[in-house]
Amino acid sequence: MALLASSILAADFTNIKDAVLIAENAGADIIHVDIMDGHFVPNLTFGPKLITAIKKTTSLPVDVHLMVDDPQAIAPLFIEAGADWISIHIEASVHLHKDISFIKENGLKAGLALNPATPILHMQNIIQELDYVLIMTVNPGWGGQQFIEASHTKITRLKNWIKGQNLDILIEIDGGVSLENMDQLMLDGVDVFVVGSSIYRSKNPKNTIIKMKKILAGDKMP
Ligand code: DX5
Ligand code: ZN
Repeated sequence: MALLASSILAADFTNIKDAVLIAENAGADIIHVDIMDGHFVPNLTFGPKLITAIKKTTSLPVDVHLMVDDPQAIAPLFIEAGADWISIHIEASVHLHKDISFIKENGLKAGLALNPATPILHMQNIIQELDYVLIMTVNPGWGGQQFIEASHTKITRLKNWIKGQNLDILIEIDGGVSLENMDQLMLDGVDVFVVGSSIYRSKNPKNTIIKMKKILAGDKMP
């Protein structure tokens, strides 16, 4: 079954604890936390202390998405803080093999994130080392953007590559996911859905998560 990662970027920042508990109680599988450094993307978000605080609040795995220029310097801080999954951007890492190996050696799941215009072939010499690939389906930096439709082809190509090589790698997508496009994305082969605005900006975040989980369980598949 595909997994739902609740992205707290769209939550009320004065009440992050509630956002995490709503996600956990409604059946979300993962808490997704976006780290932005003001360089790789213009926006700024959270530091490692938030991860430690969230880990005290929930038993769900915490997936840290590093949108930072220097993942080699920043990843250790989030490993130390208790992250379970960490993704770094292929566009940012200079020593990619070293950075991915470091995350895995510390017992975490290591992911590689790709911006919308970055070809999947750029992963040719690293893909076999990865636990997951994070396909950005919007340009990173903000929540609430529109899903980029060309992502469907990118995801299906990646799925075929993974299947063809018999690799054990999850496809995670991030940005513009909603109740409306999840069915198709399931068919494309997505394994992990990151969702922010469609959950936390909805009238009833708990019900939205429950509905999404039903789709991911295949209840609404054609
Ligand atoms: C965007 C972030 C996403 C963001 C997605 O840079 O990486 O994780 O939370 O937000 P929505 O679901 O609102 O598009
Ligand atoms: Zn993200």
